[in-house]
Amino acid sequence: MALVLGIESSCDETAVALVDSERHIVAQRIASQDEDHAPFGGVVPEIAARAHAERLAPMIAGVLEDAGIALSECDAIAATAGPGLIGGVMVGLVSAKALAMATDTPLIAINHLEGHALSPRLADESIAFPYALLLVSGGHCQILRVDGVGEYRRLATTIDDALGEAFDKTAKILGLGFPGGPAVERAALEGDARAVPLPRPMVGSGEPHFSFAGLKSAVLRAHESGQYETADIAASFQQAAVDCVTDRLRIALAEMDDVDTLVVAGGVAANATVRAALEQLAVDHDMRFAAPPPKLCTDNAAMIAWAGIERLGQSDPLDISARPRWPLDPEAEPVRGAGVKA
Ligand code: KG4
Ligand code: ZN
Repeated sequence: MALVLGIESSCDETAVALVDSERHIVAQRIASQDEDHAPFGGVVPEIAARAHAERLAPMIAGVLEDAGIALSECDAIAATAGPGLIGGVMVGLVSAKALAMATDTPLIAINHLEGHALSPRLADESIAFPYALLLVSGGHCQILRVDGVGEYRRLATTIDDALGEAFDKTAKILGLGFPGGPAVERAALEGDARAVPLPRPMVGSGEPHFSFAGLKSAVLRAHESGQYETADIAASFQQAAVDCVTDRLRIALAEMDDVDTLVVAGGVAANATVRAALEQLAVDHDMRFAAPPPKLCTDNAAMIAWAGIERLGQSDPLDISARPRWPLDPEAEPVRGAGVKA
């Protein structure tokens, strides 16, 4: 049995986990920075990097202590090497390099998006390749075909905002606080999803790409009109977002008719309405549906350690660089209007 230490620091969670090849999360710690960033209504990169630097070392020691395991017993150290906020990524990667060098343990540099992409396999051993993946987080919104570890074909991406970003901006407009996704989901529980007419950008387009900027502007107009209850706007936004996602997926799935499993991962996959809609979509397509438990959807180190397990045998050089951008599918064509997000 193999054991990997995982380190995640690419955004606003400092996380460390020990995972074994039998899919046990032996120990893990997560320190959220929500309180540090809440006054600013979003993640401030400099504050994030400093918080990672302060918290990471004691957390690594803590996780090893919780498990009663010495670093030298680990088969590899897996750390997020990008994409993400570069200051934070560097803190995690440099720490992993130092530990790898000191204990002569292989270093595995993990793409954070691959961590999300493989997380369903940590949660459920029966998830086999290939699968169709909806990856929805704060920075990314993609539909991918996953044929194996390192084998990703991107079929769709967003031409402006990521889905998590749209939830966060909606929360900000509605004054629901930070982080936005869970706050919108909570508010939506009390609202009527048909109360506010909102657009479904890209729906009907033959390409499976996403766009959420127009939806966000419509949320702002609805809010400023003073005509609607906050909960109704939240519920109507969430429904519009879900309608966009299922419509876009229908287009992409038509290009993957040999794939029988639909998987969702990333922070927004924690949303119950999103999960329910995807489950129904899978039923309609005669596909199996899988979503990791919510705690494995939002950023965590268990998924990074698991990606390390999937990549055991790999050993990256200690001078490997942190990468602010690192697309899962480097061959994917740039999309009209797409920003610089990998
Ligand atoms: O994967 P993640 O933790 O970090 C990134 O890699 O970006 O995703 C964070 C995103 C945020 O935009 C957050 O608002 C969103 O996921 N999110 C949710 C929910 N929980 C987190 N969005 C909708 N509903 C949720 N329950
Ligand atoms: Zn993430």
